[in-house]
This record gives sequence, C-alpha cells and structure tokens, in this order.
Amino acid sequence: MTTSENFYDSVGGEETFSLIVHRFYEQVPNDDILGPMYPPDDFEGAEQRLKMFLSQYWGGPKDYQEQRGHPRLRMRHVNYPIGVTAAERWLQLMSNALDGVDLTAEQREAIWEHMVRAADMLINSNPDPHA
Ligand code: HEM
Repeated sequence: MTTSENFYDSVGGEETFSLIVHRFYEQVPNDDILGPMYPPDDFEGAEQRLKMFLSQYWGGPKDYQEQRGHPRLRMRHVNYPIGVTAAERWLQLMSNALDGVDLTAEQREAIWEHMVRAADMLINSNPDPHA
C-alpha cells in the first residue's frame, strides 16, 4: 500500500478523521448486519482503532503501528465472517459518514477508492452468511 504524505493534513488532519470514523460508528450499533459483529462493550475502542489506522494510512501519526503493530487487516478480520452483503453494508455506512464531512470531490474519491479496495479484500466468506 502506498501512502500520500500530505493527504492527511490537506483534508484537515485529526479533526477530519475523527469525524469520519465517528459518523461511521454512530450508525453501527443500530445496524442489523454490522451491529452484532462489533464488540458491544468496546465501540469506543473500535472507533479509535479505525481512526488510528486511517490516519496512519493517509500519512498522519503512526499511533496504529505503535499500539497495534502491522495492520494485517485480513488476519484481523478472520473471526468475522464477511460476505458481499456485509462488505456492501460497511461501505454504505462509510459513504453516509463521508457525506457528512467537508471534502472536495477528489479527496472524497481518494478515500472512497481505498475503502472499496480494502472492503473487497476483506471478504472472507462464500457463501455469503448474510445473503
Ligand atoms: C468489509 C466489511 C467489514 C466488516 C464487516 C468489518 C468488521 C470489523 C469488526 C467486527 C472489527 C472489530 C472491531 C474492533 O474491535 O476493532 C473490525 C476491526 C477493524 N477493521 Fe474492519 N470491517 C470491515 C471493513 C473494514 C475496512 C474496509 C477497513 C479499512 C479501510 C477496516 C479496518 C479495520 C481496522 C483497522 C480494525 C481494527 C483492527 C485491530 O487493530 O484490531 N475494516 N472490523
């Protein structure tokens, strides 16, 4: 994966990534597919982990690396059966989250393209457990 050193700052840094993941996780507990997959007593921790990962990916602080080590996202998702339906739902909630953030079309597209690629890579279950 490549990172763009200036992208993190150019979209508004910490504030922007906090907002994206906050808007995303606001929707998760009430989601019929994703809600039950996340740790009910640690939504805040999950929010923090996604924020650290995205910040680091886009050239911000390396807190994720320091606290969690190498991302190995596929490995970290093996305990969650993810089919096309869950991946599409994850992306839908993320798209909703991005709609609430002040980004240029190009910035949104760059973030979105990464999300789609990552979600696709994380599909680990066929047949689809949520179909
Ligand atoms: C495809 C649908 C997806 C599902 C159903 C899913 C589900 C989950 C669940 C249930 C967790 C555990 C929450 C926690 O305790 O941290 C998790 C963690 C995580 N997910 Fe996903 N996820 C998906 C896609 C993605 C994508 C696209 C990304 C990156 C762009 C991502 C990044 C992460 C990260 C960084 C963590 C925390 C890993 C750690 O350090 O333990 N996920 N995901």
